[in-house]
Amino acid sequence: MDFYELVKTELIEVEMEMEQLIPKEPKEVYNFIVPFFQRGGKRIRPALTIIYCAALGGDISKAILPATIIELFHNFTLIHDDIEDNSLMRRGQPTLHVSHGIPIALNSGDAFYTLIWDVINNLDWPPQKLIELQRMYSSSFRRVVEGQGIELAWYRDDKFDITEKDYFAMISGKTAALIGLSCELGGYLVGVDKKKLLSLRRFGEKLGLAFQIQDDILNIIGDFKTYKKEIAGDITEGKRTLMVVRVFEKATFDEKEQLRKILSSNTRDEKELNTVVLLFKKYNSIDYARTIAMKFTDEAKKEISWLPETKYKKALIRFADFVVNREQ
Ligand code: IPE
Ligand code: IPE
Ligand code: MG
Repeated sequence: MDFYELVKTELIEVEMEMEQLIPKEPKEVYNFIVPFFQRGGKRIRPALTIIYCAALGGDISKAILPATIIELFHNFTLIHDDIEDNSLMRRGQPTLHVSHGIPIALNSGDAFYTLIWDVINNLDWPPQKLIELQRMYSSSFRRVVEGQGIELAWYRDDKFDITEKDYFAMISGKTAALIGLSCELGGYLVGVDKKKLLSLRRFGEKLGLAFQIQDDILNIIGDFKTYKKEIAGDITEGKRTLMVVRVFEKATFDEKEQLRKILSSNTRDEKELNTVVLLFKKYNSIDYARTIAMKFTDEAKKEISWLPETKYKKALIRFADFVVNREQ
């Protein structure tokens, strides 16, 4: 895809930066996190920061480190999220807590998280600009954790009376906040005004909502080879995805009871998983979710009409379409 093609060299630099930033000792800590990020990932967040910096005429070499910090935070969230969700597969391999146990996985996540602040605090930036950057990171990181917490409380409280608004609010924290930050940061590095920064953030957040919805769709209809996570894992984990919310709006009393029971049981039984998929299909909830994801993508694209007409802008528009058509 041309989006990745445009930042191919810079993304290699991000990989090298991650490798360099991670200390070698103590091996008991860092030997777990290097292979984790080396599994690869789509790297959409650093790519967005770099592309926005380029689209606004900035010096992209200055974007590598701030973009890498976002990817490090993302890696931290994935490790802890997999413990919280009790997931088995991540980036095509067993999750860290499955291969090394929960204590090591928790500490590996913490290692990513603490490293981030070391790196941020040591940036050689003018103090005022650095403080503003710290605020941008910390407020977005906080929203991710808050979104995660809202979702976790739904499981703990066995809560199913969730509206679309509740669902959007939750994913706007757990997913959209970081993608919003990735875009805003590209503009911040160039020094664009507040109004434009807000617009970049809105683009990222709308795209982030679409990204999460597409992820939830792929979890049901995707292929493990490209998706690289457990197919139908969201049903086992009892996730209240947009498809679930939709079925709860439309289904009969008995069907809702059946759905509630399966989603609360942490089952991996094929027949039960299939019952849920059939309910999604019966109520067209996968198509419905896709329509909503496309609506967010369209809104995101409209948000950046002011961007100068460059190859970077074209790539961003195509990337927005990729988010809802992707299979990985
Ligand atoms: C996974 O994010 C978590 C969600 C927000 C759905 P990515 O799909 O960007 O994960 P990697 O980095 O490519 O593995
Ligand atoms: C993604 O949550 C958000 C974070 C990791 C913070 P999910 O639980 O929906 O994503 P996957 O399916 O595990 O990647
Ligand atoms: Mg998860």
